[in-house]
Amino acid sequence: MNSLLPILHQRDCPLLDKTKIEQELRSQKFNVKYSLFLTSTINSTNSFLQELEPCSELVVCLAEQQTHGRGRFNRYWHSPFGQNIYCSSRWHLKGSLKKLSGLSLVVSLAVLAMLRELFPNINLNVKWPNDVLYNGKKLCGSLIEVIPSSNGEGKFDVIIGIGLNVNSDTAEYPLEIKPWCSLFDIMGECFDRNIISARLVISLNNYLNRFLQHGLGEFIDEWNQADCLNNNKITVSHQKTTLSGIACGINELGFLMLKDDLGVMHCLSSGDTTFQGLSK
Ligand code: BTN
Repeated sequence: MNSLLPILHQRDCPLLDKTKIEQELRSQKFNVKYSLFLTSTINSTNSFLQELEPCSELVVCLAEQQTHGRGRFNRYWHSPFGQNIYCSSRWHLKGSLKKLSGLSLVVSLAVLAMLRELFPNINLNVKWPNDVLYNGKKLCGSLIEVIPSSNGEGKFDVIIGIGLNVNSDTAEYPLEIKPWCSLFDIMGECFDRNIISARLVISLNNYLNRFLQHGLGEFIDEWNQADCLNNNKITVSHQKTTLSGIACGINELGFLMLKDDLGVMHCLSSGDTTFQGLSK
């Protein structure tokens, strides 16, 4: 059931509220043991979880504001107070680190599934490797960090940091390289971040379990259907190299398949993707 009612004015948007989040988790029958940290201002929710002592249960941290929000490649993640979701979760996993190839794609799909359930009327896509987009504009990004365990082979923690623009008016954002958007920009209404955050954790848990059990193969069709790059002319840049060609989906490791102008297929494990002819 969709318990998310729109709030019409930004000034009426509720702050993060532990009781509300826990209530929503209970009402959705989330039966995983967890600790939840809510904080007003923090440097970065991912950094906070990195510094925690190892713990075998799920730990989630949400902040109203980040002073040093981090994006991929150490970029800055704009994190204004009380508007968006800055959520990191730390999962204690067992097995081989190799099994994690493609996790960033699965995380994007988990966010997408949650948003589609709450907002079935908006048309969202994913963009390799970690973005959720609306109309070519970035709504959500994720940053995944792995902490190998010091006490035993085959155990490690994964921190999944999600930045989801909810109630901000991105026209007020500082000029960025990428075009951004928020749920507020899309729908002209504000939403309760407590409900969305709870649903996000539930969706991450579901997707992570499926991924660990079945691998990325299970998600390839879902990715291809939501992928905005597929069959488009794109450029991929990584450090000082760029490569252009036609995006041809992903392989079983989650690498981007790119066919260059000579017809040679490349499998790329990292980089930034842009549509050709566009600077953004
Ligand atoms: C990206 O698209 O470059 C990834 C952005 C990830 C931002 C989130 S906000 C919550 C968590 N804490 C951080 O410092 N970063 C992630």
